[in-house]
Amino acid sequence: MKKTIKVPIKEAEKLRLKLLNNGKLDPQRKIKLIEEGERFLEIPVTDDVKGFDTYEQKDAVYYNKWNSLKDILKDSVKGSELRLLPSGWHIIGDIIVITIDPAIEHMKKKIAEAMLKMYPSCNTVVRDLGIKGQYRLPQREILTGNNTETINKENGCLFKLDVTKVMFSKGNLHEKKLMSNIGDNETIVDMFAGIGYFTIPMAVHTNPEKIIAIELNPDSYEYLRENISLNHVEDIVEALNGDCAQLTPEGIADRVIMGYVGTTHHYLQYGIRSIKKSGGMLHYHETTPESLIFERPVARIKEAARIEGRHIEVTECRKVKKYSPGVWHVAVDTRIT
Ligand SMILES: C[S@@+](CC[C@H](N)C(=O)[O-])C[C@H]1O[C@@H](n2cnc3c(N)ncnc32)[C@H](O)[C@@H]1O
Repeated sequence: MKKTIKVPIKEAEKLRLKLLNNGKLDPQRKIKLIEEGERFLEIPVTDDVKGFDTYEQKDAVYYNKWNSLKDILKDSVKGSELRLLPSGWHIIGDIIVITIDPAIEHMKKKIAEAMLKMYPSCNTVVRDLGIKGQYRLPQREILTGNNTETINKENGCLFKLDVTKVMFSKGNLHEKKLMSNIGDNETIVDMFAGIGYFTIPMAVHTNPEKIIAIELNPDSYEYLRENISLNHVEDIVEALNGDCAQLTPEGIADRVIMGYVGTTHHYLQYGIRSIKKSGGMLHYHETTPESLIFERPVARIKEAARIEGRHIEVTECRKVKKYSPGVWHVAVDTRIT
């Protein structure tokens, strides 16, 4: 019998912990919300529970019985290949993005099918083959499924994107959270806005006067516009499609975000010029070889500020994430006056 008990929501967490401790919580089935005029939680149990009526649960929802790729593939894959199976992946909306070692290329379809068994709510698996060029275009191969457009929820924001057309970096979560806490009443320029990675959380979580979000890649720009409406921040964000070297407005910003890596330093003069004469913050990103952290990015900002006749005060330097062997994606926050 699939035993269950019905518990008022307020009491549920305390009871769940008690059942977990005394071994009566059924770990195979999920707790379900039921509405019968009032809202209750149905807690699956393995035995009777004093003070509650136990009954047979209808439509039980089970946790996934597969814990790992190795579990699923162990009977159909050679031992030497098992250790090459991927151990990490990203889930973007309902799409799984996975890196596969070229040595087990011949198993890619099998791996993709196994991934869908592990994540039944996903419907497509794509292989990640890196990111290319100024548009930061992801190189991706569809392994199974055919739906590459999805909506990813992150930090209370919605991001619509096509995983084969635009990048979505999950590794920058800390940086995105940091940025989502600043900008109250400010005018902000996001020079490399992408689909709104920084712009949307700032607009949703703080109360900026205005954000000007500039994006060069037409596909990313279209998603940026969609994400502005999906998150209802049309009154705050103005999206511009084009090169920030031409479109960055001068002398209006309390804060400028330069969240691009590669040749970001070529754009420093435009970022600095955008900051109000009375002063503002610059958030500059670049990829830096380990031996030059944080000396090179700080020197670049200093030199660009000198040419523009401005002063700088570095307020914080951060490593955002490892970019490639010996190279880091770093961020430097600087007050410009
Ligand atoms: C790395 S993505 C955005 C990343 C995002 N800030 C994050 O950290 O996840 C950088 C974006 O800058 C855009 N971009 C590159 N050069 C540009 C330029 N000159 N003007 C405007 N956008 C540009 C690219 O198309 C890309 O969408």
